[in-house]
Amino acid sequence: MMDSSRRCGLTAGRAAAAALAMAGVLAGGGARAADAVAGKALFDKTCTNCHSTQAGVNKVGPSLFDVVGRPIASVQGYDYSPKMRAMAKRWKVWDAAHLDTYLTNPRQVLHGVRMFFAVPGADDRANVIAYLQTLK
Ligand code: HEC
Repeated sequence: MMDSSRRCGLTAGRAAAAALAMAGVLAGGGARAADAVAGKALFDKTCTNCHSTQAGVNKVGPSLFDVVGRPIASVQGYDYSPKMRAMAKRWKVWDAAHLDTYLTNPRQVLHGVRMFFAVPGADDRANVIAYLQTLK
């Protein structure tokens, strides 16, 4: 019952950006080869509606520049929900494991959080986290 055959259908630019994907794999150090290119495509299609990847640019959600390794709820000038601030005390920093848990279903994992968007596919999450690791 593993979902190893999941396909995201993202083919554009795959070959050309193998190096970017490799960066994600090295940074992640996980057993599975996460695909930062597929992660970027997913990000550009969905997360971009609410998040900028530029430092200091907040939209509906806070900037995700350099989010991996960043303290939770730490973007200056962004008005986080009380739940997100409380989570910052428990989880401290966004590492790949916390991102994976969070993105599975933000409002279920962190009840009361303001983000209405989930990434239910484990491969999709691994890919988008690999992409987030390139935002330095
Ligand atoms: C509909 C708008 C929306 C979408 C789409 C969205 N987010 Fe968010 N996101 C938010 C909001 C709002 C917050 C702040 C939540 C809070 O304070 O409770 C947030 C918070 C976050 C945080 C915590 C940031 C911090 O500074 O602690 C991360 C990480 C995150 N989102 C990642 C993502 C990723 C990755 C995607 C795409 C897969 C995504 N988000 C899609 C609205 C969105």
